[in-house]
Amino acid sequence: MEEKEIRALIQKAMEVRKNAYAPYSKFLVGAVLIDEEGREYRGVNVENTSYGLSSCAERNAIFSGVAKGMKKIAVLCVVGDTEDPIRPCGACRQVILEFANEDTKIILSNLHGKYEVFSIEDLLPNSFFVKIY
Ligand code: THU
Repeated sequence: MEEKEIRALIQKAMEVRKNAYAPYSKFLVGAVLIDEEGREYRGVNVENTSYGLSSCAERNAIFSGVAKGMKKIAVLCVVGDTEDPIRPCGACRQVILEFANEDTKIILSNLHGKYEVFSIEDLLPNSFFVKIY
């Protein structure tokens, strides 16, 4: 991926992030996902007064994609207000794995545009996965 494309995706995720519903943690997260067919989906974190029901931005982007026919993630970009580029939680890593392959690019950024690009193997090595046919 070209630097220009990465920057544009990060910018988009920053815009989406503004829609996050995070009145409890006040930690807003935005995610933009491109599937293998070039279609784009978005997600934000959505919290709840019953804290444990809160749902992460990247998971919401994935679930939104699945509802519209997404099969595999080509690129997933996540942005949050962290000092270093944001890191997805363990649960999200497992959900990303479900829809990723070795070419999937996971771009993690903070609000200053400091970013890193990972594969799912980088984020979740030696993972649990049952092959389905
Ligand atoms: N959160 C995300 O949406 N994505 C991440 O990668 C990290 C954490 C959300 C969950 C919760 O709403 C808030 O950030 C604080 O943990």
